[in-house]
Amino acid sequence: MGIVYNKEDNTITLHTKNTSYQMKIGNLDYLFHLYYGPTLHDADLSYQIMQYDRGFSGNPYESRNERTFSLDAQPQEFSTQQQGDFRTASIEVVNGDGSYSFSGKAAKITIEKEKYRLETLPTVFANESDTVHSLEITLSDSVSEVDVILLYSVFEEADIITRAVKVKNNGKTSIHLKKIMSLCLDFINGSGMDLLSLPGRYGQERQVERQPMTHHIHTISSVRGSSSHQQNPFVVLCDQDATEDFGKCYGFSLMYSGNFLAEAELDQYDQLRLVMGIHPKQFVYEVRPGETFEGPEVVMAFTEKGLTGLSHLFHDFYRTNLCRSRFVTQTERPVLINSWEAAFMDFDDKKLVEIAKAAKNMGVELLVMDDGWFGKRDDDNSGLGDWVVNEDKIKCGLHALVEQINDLGMKFGIWFEPEMVSEDSDLYRAHPEWAMKIPGRPEVRSRNQIALDMSRKDVQDYLIEKVNAILDDANIYYVKWDINRSLADIWSNALPADKQGEVYHRYILGLYRIMDAIIKTHPDILFEGCSGGGGRFDAAMLHYYPQYWVSDNNHPIDRLKLHYGTSFVYPPSCMGAHISDSGKLVPLKTKAVVAMGGTFGYELDATHLTEEEQKLCREQSALFRKYYHIIIKGDYYRLSNPFETGNMTAWQHVTKDRQESLLSVVVTNLTCNGPQEYVRAKGLETDTVYSVNDGQYTLSGSALMNAGLPIPREVPEYTAFQFHMKAV
Ligand code: GLA
Repeated sequence: MGIVYNKEDNTITLHTKNTSYQMKIGNLDYLFHLYYGPTLHDADLSYQIMQYDRGFSGNPYESRNERTFSLDAQPQEFSTQQQGDFRTASIEVVNGDGSYSFSGKAAKITIEKEKYRLETLPTVFANESDTVHSLEITLSDSVSEVDVILLYSVFEEADIITRAVKVKNNGKTSIHLKKIMSLCLDFINGSGMDLLSLPGRYGQERQVERQPMTHHIHTISSVRGSSSHQQNPFVVLCDQDATEDFGKCYGFSLMYSGNFLAEAELDQYDQLRLVMGIHPKQFVYEVRPGETFEGPEVVMAFTEKGLTGLSHLFHDFYRTNLCRSRFVTQTERPVLINSWEAAFMDFDDKKLVEIAKAAKNMGVELLVMDDGWFGKRDDDNSGLGDWVVNEDKIKCGLHALVEQINDLGMKFGIWFEPEMVSEDSDLYRAHPEWAMKIPGRPEVRSRNQIALDMSRKDVQDYLIEKVNAILDDANIYYVKWDINRSLADIWSNALPADKQGEVYHRYILGLYRIMDAIIKTHPDILFEGCSGGGGRFDAAMLHYYPQYWVSDNNHPIDRLKLHYGTSFVYPPSCMGAHISDSGKLVPLKTKAVVAMGGTFGYELDATHLTEEEQKLCREQSALFRKYYHIIIKGDYYRLSNPFETGNMTAWQHVTKDRQESLLSVVVTNLTCNGPQEYVRAKGLETDTVYSVNDGQYTLSGSALMNAGLPIPREVPEYTAFQFHMKAV
């Protein structure tokens, strides 16, 4: 178990409970990758390395006349540059002498009994009960005096391995990094695999696409300055015949919120290479003598139990080892109502109190005051940056407003978009140089706002002070942290011309510093991330926020796809999901069933609901509370694929002890005189007897999983069913 460095055969093997990962210090001290997959026990896979004279594949000079060794044909642990490997590189560095070359030889290996740390970037952490070992392998280039340090942590019980990379300049002149990948994984035999990713767009984030690997480079990336709506920093490589329940699946989740790149290349010999890290676009990072650059962490998992098994590994790990918020472990998330779709920016303190009173009657526990409460903010053309309460709207002041809400027995939350500035704002008038604009050029407009230069320390300090001042002024229980545009005009007035290639990454480092500072001083606040919905929904954000707004699209039928796609890597406990007015034809009950796929809440004007609707909402809020432990802490099963034509979408949550479950079904299509349909449960104990919906059925787990439950026909369109199963 753990990490084994076998000095006789020169292999290093990482073992989790069910997986092994093997490397070998091979010819000329180059580091080869041998294996990642089911447990190897103590096998040495060095015999897998076959070497032939391959035409047009260069041979290192040191191998003299030996033409059978070429990096172009060997599986490597970190692919190099200008060393005869023409496949995708993990590094592109301009050395002090202007040369573009890196040739790393394994020089130093250390093994520790704790999780490695990064100074500048968020990482997962080890809990006291976890068995974790870490490995550091230094690949040294003796000519350029550059070290690449590969970091690994092995979480044994969780079946998770994390990786990260550091580049250290031991030379006497600066080097410039143009590409640095945190992960390079070579499969000796990579044929017959599919690549699954989560592309999308605004309002339709994390849809699912799966494609067979062919002989070219498949690229999944974002160059929007954020991990984006359009792609997600998560990919799966799986057997072409892998299903939800069976088959080999590898998952890779990058802990980074800025530009990212994943490249999967099936090469001429059917070897498969995956690299993942910061996107090289406009990335030129100077590493001065003695300095070290850190690349973000990648979380990797492997299972033979299909896509559901893979999701369970990530869900379990991200629920326990990613975010330290008390809302992950100790405190239940409140049922919230958000003012955005109720009032947009047209509200005052009285209106908010009215919404809160009506919402209280719906079982809501937290009122969130969204955009519009600060500066001069009556529409989205002004006010961003001025984080002071607008007392024309909040006439009684923030403190008194929060007191009124608290007196109703409710908690209070607030919205910020700290990273942005409006040209029509006091902040912009005072500090135009803080906005990202390329000198001499008009900026690219997007929602009429400009990004603040988060790479600047003075901007970071301003935001920490302003946000903290609001959080300290009143009894704030919740914060929604938003960002509503992609970045363009990448430029920092605080950096010289030759450092502008660092701005994209420094922006993200600045953002992490701010969030760290604010969250550490307010550890009791529940933070929810947002980017025009789910535009920066990534593992690094979930390190800071236990939950994230899935999408501005609240249409419950679209939400079926949104929750389905998001669930491939992120657990329901982090999916912000609300009932709203969107979807006029969809019954309120169905909206509630869908919102119970995540952290249930409301996004509507509660004062407009009838007494009967409020009562129904009250019942639904109570159900969410009742089922909280199943939804938030249980295993999640995708029972059907909403992207395929079918008449219903179904999913299920099962408690870890398999004694209780919630199975939800939404009828999405009605066919005239169609066949009777059944939904089969998953994850139950075959020989345990369950009472379904308090005695509607009493059936064994085997019956529920193999024969299934009939879904009534002849029901109105978009009817939803919930089956609560409890062992008797
Ligand atoms: C984004 C968010 C919304 C809302 C608005 C406010 O679009 O996704 O939920 O907060 O901003 O401007």
